[in-house]
Amino acid sequence: MVRWDGQRREAGEGMMEWDSLWFNGHAATMAPGGILRDAVVAVKDGRIAWIGAARDRPAGRAAEEHDLGGRWVTPGLIDCHTHLVFGGNRAREFEMRLEGATYEEIARAGGGIASTVAATRAADEESLIASAAVRLQPLLAEGVTVVEVKSGYGLDLATERRMLRAARALGERFPVTVRTTGLAAHALPPEFAGRADDYIALVCDGMLPTLAAEGLLDAVDAFCERIAFSPEQTARVFDTARRLGLPVKLHADQLSDGGGAALAARYSALSADHVEHTSEEGTRAMAMAGTVAVLLPGAFYMLRETKLPPIELFRRHGVPMAVSTDCNPGTSPAVSLLLMLNMACTLFRLTPQEALAGVTSNAALALGMAATHGTLEPGKAADLAVWDVGDPAELCYWLGANPCAAVVRGGRLVKSLQG
Ligand code: NIG
Ligand code: FE
Repeated sequence: MVRWDGQRREAGEGMMEWDSLWFNGHAATMAPGGILRDAVVAVKDGRIAWIGAARDRPAGRAAEEHDLGGRWVTPGLIDCHTHLVFGGNRAREFEMRLEGATYEEIARAGGGIASTVAATRAADEESLIASAAVRLQPLLAEGVTVVEVKSGYGLDLATERRMLRAARALGERFPVTVRTTGLAAHALPPEFAGRADDYIALVCDGMLPTLAAEGLLDAVDAFCERIAFSPEQTARVFDTARRLGLPVKLHADQLSDGGGAALAARYSALSADHVEHTSEEGTRAMAMAGTVAVLLPGAFYMLRETKLPPIELFRRHGVPMAVSTDCNPGTSPAVSLLLMLNMACTLFRLTPQEALAGVTSNAALALGMAATHGTLEPGKAADLAVWDVGDPAELCYWLGANPCAAVVRGGRLVKSLQG
């Protein structure tokens, strides 16, 4: 029992009762106010009950106390764009790209997403869960407490459902909050070759309404690109999402400027993702709609892209920027969000502060979870990552190191200071 008696009030009257308390560290709250030195975080019922400088702490006692030993605390990290659940891998395609083939060429020749669709259709739910768990665990060890997982490698009702169920199962078996996004409009399945409008009709009239009715969807996404779906087809998917009361996100302007970001903004999308080719007009539309730009430096790096996302325009127009792994077998087999922080700074020239906001407060915005996650503030989920670093910028600095010393999710210690 921690005794705060003798602080400001006597034990008893007016005394706060907490479940746990973290002290003797520094906090990057990612909320207005920013950095708290010699911080105290008090937790009650899975939420942050109080956070502030030690000298301002109210009188109270906690059932358990944790000495941070001078370490830093941030909100639990949020990986807001992943395709974590899939069958097989695409190492052979990686080799082909090194030999000169482009991502688009491979896709048009029937490889790419279609090859992962075949492997995913052949996998049962348990094996999808098991292979995704192998990718999830390194993320969790790095302080990730919320992860978004998309479907999109099934492209038929049964397999899309199986992917989403596998994603939800990960949230039950591991200490992580999972948000599921229906990406049935990811690519044209081979059985619909030449009949894209028919497939979109199936997605809108059959697949999405059924998956939504089964409670498997938190949001809807699509791939708007010349190798995927047109803006008109994407708009049909978004109209369906609106009818179902689901928010939308979009793989937008990744390989070309198809006006995807502006389209997403027209539907008040939570986010437009990739956005390398987004124009100033698209940027303005995003700013007006409050649509987050989700930057995916792993895909940019892996495809050896040269067109940078318009970071300066996002800054100028006040578009919030998030950063994510885009963990997927084709363009970004990334299982480290910390590495993405480094790449966002090195490749996209984000400041470490911007990159950190990208995996906390802005990532929460991109998932529609800003009311409960993404910053260290009273009332928010007690999701904390504790770091063995001398300064938060160090989280963006190391390549391949993991300074995460402890993780708390919903007030519960899920990775302990001892290791
Ligand atoms: O986010 N761009 C489309 N979708 C994924 C890649 C999918 C794949 O190649 O398997 C992405 O980059
Ligand atoms: Fe993606």
